Amino acid sequence: MANDALALAGIDAFYGDSHVLHGVSFVLGAARLLGLLGRNGAGKTTCMNVTMGMLRPRRGTVTLFGQAIAGRAPEDIAMSGIALVPQGRRIFRSLTVRENLLVAARQPQANGAHAPWTFDTVYATFPRLKERQNQVAGYLSGGEQQMLAIGRALMANPRVLLMDEPSEGLAPQIVAEVMATIRRLKEQGLSIILVEQNAKLVFDIADDIVILNSGRVAVAGTTDALRRGGVDLHQHLGIY
Ligand SMILES: Nc1ncnc2c1ncn2[C@@H]1O[C@H](COP(=O)(O)OP(=O)(O)OP(=O)(O)O)[C@@H](O)[C@H]1O
Ligand SMILES: [Mg+2]
Repeated sequence: MANDALALAGIDAFYGDSHVLHGVSFVLGAARLLGLLGRNGAGKTTCMNVTMGMLRPRRGTVTLFGQAIAGRAPEDIAMSGIALVPQGRRIFRSLTVRENLLVAARQPQANGAHAPWTFDTVYATFPRLKERQNQVAGYLSGGEQQMLAIGRALMANPRVLLMDEPSEGLAPQIVAEVMATIRRLKEQGLSIILVEQNAKLVFDIADDIVILNSGRVAVAGTTDALRRGGVDLHQHLGIY
């Protein structure tokens, strides 16, 4: 559909002989926020790896704004307007904050939704990064490293942002800050997938929710519909 930012359709993915994703399909609408939930090992990060071209699916398609991208090289996929904030942040610890941002900088596509992200706009969003711009990133706190990982992804001026468990290991107050930032990014027109284990965070912020269970889509729908329908989180996530 023209209004789809990103669509995975019928994805089967393997690590060696291990069959991890089984016919996974879901759609991220343009300027929407999709929460991708699932317990440890459900296949959330694998969906990110497939989308970013780091793991080639054995079957299925990935479509970014109507363009098929599955099977392309990761650099090509990144160039086509999608960026990942990886699980565990993966910042360059021996580079400074500024250098981390610089290596990711990329000119926006003409049809980008937001005014281009630059050092100035990233620093305005995360003032603490500005204060620490000449510090080596390995010495930042966990929350600051997460902000840097998000800022780095934004420097690529993506149209679709994938965030893999950005709240992991952070204190509640920092998590609230990160969530407020994600909400603002959505309001600015970015299409976002938020991978989470914390169902409450996702129900608070997402327009749409997909729950993976053992590499299969177990539940999918709008947040409102799932709230009304009373989805059984205990069954699918093993919590609550
Ligand atoms: N590089 C790899 N090689 C082999 N198996 C892997 C690899 N990465 C993940 N797996 C396996 O694939 C399955 C899905 O893993 P994945 O990392 O996608 O889960 P996840 O939902 O992101 O979990 P978590 O919430 O713990 O990050 C798991 O069974 C995992 O052990
Ligand atoms: Mg993961």
